[in-house]
Amino acid sequence: MKIAVIAGDGIGSEVVKEALKVLKTIGSKFNINYEVEEFPYGADYFLETGISIPQEAFTEWPKKFTAILFGAVGDPRVKPNDYAKEILLGIRTKLDLYVNLRPVKLLDKQYCPLKNKTEEDVNFVVVRENIEDIYINSGGNFKKGTKDEVAIENSLHTRKGVERVIRYAFEYANENKLSSVLMSDKSNAMVYVGDLWQRVFNEVAEEYPHIEKRHMYIDALHMELIRDPSQFEVIVTSNIFGDILTDSAAQIQGGMGLAASGNINPESTHFRGLYEPVHGSAPMIAGKNIANPIASILSLAMLLQDHGYKKEASIIQGAVKAVINKGKVTVDLGGNCSTSEIGDLVCQEIQNN
Ligand code: NAD
Ligand code: IPM
Ligand code: MN
Repeated sequence: MKIAVIAGDGIGSEVVKEALKVLKTIGSKFNINYEVEEFPYGADYFLETGISIPQEAFTEWPKKFTAILFGAVGDPRVKPNDYAKEILLGIRTKLDLYVNLRPVKLLDKQYCPLKNKTEEDVNFVVVRENIEDIYINSGGNFKKGTKDEVAIENSLHTRKGVERVIRYAFEYANENKLSSVLMSDKSNAMVYVGDLWQRVFNEVAEEYPHIEKRHMYIDALHMELIRDPSQFEVIVTSNIFGDILTDSAAQIQGGMGLAASGNINPESTHFRGLYEPVHGSAPMIAGKNIANPIASILSLAMLLQDHGYKKEASIIQGAVKAVINKGKVTVDLGGNCSTSEIGDLVCQEIQNN
């Protein structure tokens, strides 16, 4: 494993520090051979140099590294946040990391805001298309600054892009012995894009007759997510719907501090992907050693899993669960542990395993 680390801004650097602690602990316990190289990209670097991220990250990193461990980018001093988009969306797009895999798993029922829901009720994955849709930076304006101003944001969906992410969702269900894949769109209003997603979903589903194909409009899906999350196994959706859905979904697993993700290209064998919390740089709580590092630690577990370290990944997940179940949590979950204490406790659990 050769890991490039971009801790980024705000709480990004605080949570990644704990994930690296966990990597060190698991690495020495199980003799994992790895190298880590840390990069300073983020708001400070951009303000100093005018560079968001050098081009070589897009051309050389996929050859040099096997993964990126990422914190978060976004800083109130820099508006608009083009530098942050160049870093995160740049890597996602230019490295063709077309799947954003966002597991939603409740580790302790006391942290679920839904009444009477348990760990069994909240356990599914969202497969978010990761590079198309409104994220292509295409649009423009007309008569900007006047009363007649017009703004356009183009949403692009390609046959290839839709097909490969839907196929990944079915492959994921197949490999994990799950019985259904639900596709969510807004085809009742979005005529052209909705039609494409509908046709491709139905076609790909035919290749997996043993897996139930389900559909919900994205608005109804949000409603069902709160009413009965136990019905979901794999949800596949487009980029912006997946972005919004996974913040809501993070909340029912206990909050943004717990939600992990992998930005991956399943066909890429050497470079696995970029692993990061679903949350952002949370400037309001940055620098106080109170951010929850669990999302970053669980993202590291996903990184290890994708390098074939399945046992080690599940030991980290078990250690995280053990710490949470003991009520050792940060303020976002009503506790009083600091960021670094949680990292230490997870490492202790791994040592004692
Ligand atoms: P955010 O995820 O940073 O914060 C949302 C809320 O969740 C805040 O109340 C925050 O305090 C809380 N929170 C988030 N992570 C937490 C953690 N680990 N522990 C405890 N509480 C946590 O989202 P936002 O406020 O909408 O955005 C802040 C900045 O982050 C913006 O610049 C945004 O663009 C950026 N952002 C970056 C990423 C990324 O780099 N992947 C993702 C989302 C947002
Ligand atoms: C996420 C974030 C990003 C996104 C932002 C920071 C561009 O919200 O990873 O969920 O919209 O994809
Ligand atoms: Mn988001």
